[in-house]
Amino acid sequence: MTKYAVVTGADRGVGLALVREFVERGFHVFAGQYMPHQGQLEALQVQFPNQIEVVQLNVADDASVQAAAKYVMSKTDKLDMLVNNAAILGKIDDSILDEEMDFDQILQVINVTGLGALRVTHALIKPILNSEHKLVANISSEAGSIGQCYRTGWYGYAMAKAALNMHAVTTHNCIQEQGGQVMNFHPGWVKSYLSGTYTDRATLTPEQSAADLIKLIMDHKNYVGDKPAYIDNEGHTQLW
Ligand SMILES: NC(=O)c1ccc[n+]([C@@H]2O[C@H](COP(=O)([O-])OP(=O)(O)OC[C@H]3O[C@@H](n4cnc5c(N)ncnc54)[C@H](OP(=O)(O)O)[C@@H]3O)[C@@H](O)[C@H]2O)c1
Repeated sequence: MTKYAVVTGADRGVGLALVREFVERGFHVFAGQYMPHQGQLEALQVQFPNQIEVVQLNVADDASVQAAAKYVMSKTDKLDMLVNNAAILGKIDDSILDEEMDFDQILQVINVTGLGALRVTHALIKPILNSEHKLVANISSEAGSIGQCYRTGWYGYAMAKAALNMHAVTTHNCIQEQGGQVMNFHPGWVKSYLSGTYTDRATLTPEQSAADLIKLIMDHKNYVGDKPAYIDNEGHTQLW
């Protein structure tokens, strides 16, 4: 039977690489596209026309999420895996000691990086719980860990990822009786455009990170527990 996955923020980076990993495992993938201009996702779709559907999806926008979910649910009533990957970093330099802080931008980052995953999960929870795998995989970050936080800035992003972590636990608590499961990942330090410019000095390519993540995702049943697993790409547990 066909397995279905949704990946948000699939234009490039880890999201795009995860789409390929799912396709190589035979999944039918709905790939969330935010910025149609880049062409990498379209090129992958041309390679796998029967397995990838590009869906317009802005996770910060209720109407966009509803429209994307409606489309997915018109194609399948079973969604095995939802990967909440979309995020923005925003400004990281604002400090509590600065004369001014950019609260509008912090709100925007929280709306995309924190609330976005909740919007999408809520819109798709019925087909998720109707599927075999019933997995919500959040691409979080070590930056969302309160227990290991060393930063003096990164307010928007770190607060958003901490909120995403709480969404993971709350949602997991709510769906585990029905066999549902949430996993939370730090994908490693990945070369990408998340910071606005390409982070070449990071240690992993998106393809390397996704190759690690997909193994953990496919192995999700070994991580079933009272709380969601919160692990990095090598499987090391992160502090909440
Ligand atoms: N890179 C790292 O070292 C690192 C470390 C820890 C965690 N992470 C997490 O890993 C995930 C993937 O990041 P990445 O490094 O691959 O960066 P990325 O290439 O910037 O990927 C983020 C994706 O989200 C999309 N996006 C932005 N705003 C969106 C919105 N409103 N709705 C839907 N999609 C939106 C982006 O689209 P556009 O490209 O069109 O803007 C992009 O495709 C993120 O959750 C990030 O927080 C990354």
